[in-house]
Amino acid sequence: MDKCQEAQIFRHACKVFNGKKIVDEDWHYILEAGRMSPSSFGMEPWRFLVVKSQKIKEQLQPLCWNQKQISTCSHLLIIKNQIALVQDEEYIAKMFARRGLSQEATAQYIERYKSFIKPLDIDVWTAKQCYIAMESMMLAVAFRHIDSCPIEGFEREKVERFLGLDTAKERVAVIVTFGFRLNPQPAHHRLPLEELVQKL
Ligand SMILES: Cc1cc2nc3c(=O)[nH]c(=O)nc-3n(C[C@H](O)[C@H](O)[C@H](O)COP(=O)(O)O)c2cc1C
Repeated sequence: MDKCQEAQIFRHACKVFNGKKIVDEDWHYILEAGRMSPSSFGMEPWRFLVVKSQKIKEQLQPLCWNQKQISTCSHLLIIKNQIALVQDEEYIAKMFARRGLSQEATAQYIERYKSFIKPLDIDVWTAKQCYIAMESMMLAVAFRHIDSCPIEGFEREKVERFLGLDTAKERVAVIVTFGFRLNPQPAHHRLPLEELVQKL
């Protein structure tokens, strides 16, 4: 078994953490894994809001189905999907300019991007990509034997109101908690490949 497979087995949705804190170097490594995640057109439509304050975690818990992960984790990460930014001319220009293409190719690329996003639900499109960043972080951290739990069980509008977000600009896509497990890991339940893989 290689290290990635080991990490996949180690990772599970940790329901309660033991209170031990993640050291700064490991936390930086987690954020780097998020930063390096792939995104559609390379637009990086996420921003990572880090919550270390115990008081804020406790205030958030009732808005997150009262889940214990929220208040027992070491670090809580709110991944915000960027709605306004990915439609902002200046940001679009900046993100495409760094590819080092000719002016003409850049302009064509931007046109393609704009026509691609035109029919999309931008909230859904950007949120989907936040989930990719979340999984990058959860898997990376498992290599270092740090636990995580993805959290979709929260009242989105209430959390956004609590954070004072301008939801026309950005929304809460998903929350991830990180720390160290209190309890032994339960077995993974997965369908066999024969049931998942189809062939043409
Ligand atoms: C997008 C997403 C949201 C999730 N939200 C929650 C949640 O709010 N609370 C929770 O305890 N687990 C949550 N989970 C964990 C899943 O229940 C878990 O990954 C699944 O049951 C498989 O178990 P395992 O990850 O331990 O192998 C979520 C998982 C994903 C991918």
